[in-house]
Amino acid sequence: MLLTMFFLMKFISPNFSDLMEPNITIKQFPDGDNYIKLPETKEKQVTLFHRLWPNQDNALLQAFLMLSTLKKSRVKTTLVSPYLPYARQDKIFKQGEALSSEEVCKLLAYCGTDKLITLDCHFLKKQGDFEYGNLNIKNISMADKLISYTKSKINNEPLEILSPDLGASYMVPGGDKKSMKKIRGEYVEGEEAYRKIEKVENKVDVNDKNVLILDDMIASGGTMIRAIENVKNGGAKKVLCAATHGFFLKGSLEKLNGLCDEVFVTDSIATEVSKIKIIDVLKDF
Ligand code: R5P
Repeated sequence: MLLTMFFLMKFISPNFSDLMEPNITIKQFPDGDNYIKLPETKEKQVTLFHRLWPNQDNALLQAFLMLSTLKKSRVKTTLVSPYLPYARQDKIFKQGEALSSEEVCKLLAYCGTDKLITLDCHFLKKQGDFEYGNLNIKNISMADKLISYTKSKINNEPLEILSPDLGASYMVPGGDKKSMKKIRGEYVEGEEAYRKIEKVENKVDVNDKNVLILDDMIASGGTMIRAIENVKNGGAKKVLCAATHGFFLKGSLEKLNGLCDEVFVTDSIATEVSKIKIIDVLKDF
């Protein structure tokens, strides 16, 4: 009985089925609209496990519908979404640009998110509890687990850890937060909103050292590729690269595998190199 109650307090979306047994029904009407049915509950506090990537726009809409349905029944909802999309545009570079990180958080708060639990959120740049765009967020870093895995792979030999840019330097242990500096150029021409990486600068001595390059995410792989090239030119011995969220767009996993000794990520997004299990840190919410 107790077990059943505990189970019912966790609402699991079908897009979490690799980690937990789903109990929410999501289907599509013939025209593609979402049909959503939540489990019945008398609880006034639930945790909703729902990924917001891939298909972030639809996944967000599904979240809004689920959250609003719970809000209508006066249920307080903790939303567990390992990756928060739209987190990358957290600054306005040109007049008229949408501050999408804030707008998405405002919508999640408006629809009834009491707290969002997420992992290595791009704009927060540190672990902890925050309020952003009216949304309460607990940001958990997977850095320790990624580092422990690396150490086990190199038999606990000395390891130099650095991030490929300043934004992810909070993931690097120690007071000096060793980091490279990434310099981005203008937006590239065409349909894609992507600012080219002009260069990656590094002042950390990596000669003859085992190196772990640690980032919050690997998307197109451009950042990691430039960072790996940099430390290899600097004489690094073994080079491993890791991130919390592995999108591996544009065939970048293959490229990275060819460039370094090992690339790995968590299963925030399930990939063939997802070595770290996020359920260990999320199961207790
Ligand atoms: C950006 O500041 C992030 O921390 C990542 O470095 C970046 O988003 C990775 O993107 P990509 O793999 O496309 O270079």
